[in-house]
Amino acid sequence: MQVRHILLYGVVAIAFILLIVGGWFRSQPDPEMGKRLVTNSCEICHDLTTAKNQERGPYLWGVYNRPAGVTGYSHSEGFLAKVSEEGFIWDDEHLDQFISNPGAFIPRTQMGKPSAKHPTAFDGIVSDANRKDVLAYLKSLR
Ligand code: HEC
Repeated sequence: MQVRHILLYGVVAIAFILLIVGGWFRSQPDPEMGKRLVTNSCEICHDLTTAKNQERGPYLWGVYNRPAGVTGYSHSEGFLAKVSEEGFIWDDEHLDQFISNPGAFIPRTQMGKPSAKHPTAFDGIVSDANRKDVLAYLKSLR
């Protein structure tokens, strides 16, 4: 084999490795991006830094792995029905389902429904990658 060929194969192999490593880094959840998404999409209704409920929503401080509906917030009937039917904790799976489409996971939840008290509602985050970023940030709130 000529030196030229060895060099060429070397460059191709290095480019390939960089591509794989780069892809792996991009697929990792990014809590900094999650923080921005949460600031823009959730903070209007949820307190993130203290255990204080807002008029518009229960606090999310320490929400990760917390049982659903235990903050003392006055929850909607739809939410209470879901919790009494199957008590669950806010782990990755439940948070992901709720955030991707609140009304599909908990029918008639206040979070996904506009009203006089809550004129804005939250439709959900469509992007899988963005939801992973949001979860990475929510885990750090403790
Ligand atoms: C328009 C206001 C609003 C926005 C925006 C909003 N939420 Fe909510 N959220 C609520 C309300 C209201 C409830 C209580 C739901 C009920 O009782 O039906 C709730 C409940 C929750 C709960 C359950 C808390 C518990 O203690 O069981 C989680 C988790 C949650 N929201 C996460 C989020 C995240 C994450 C975002 C942003 C990606 C977000 N919410 C955006 C209003 C909102």
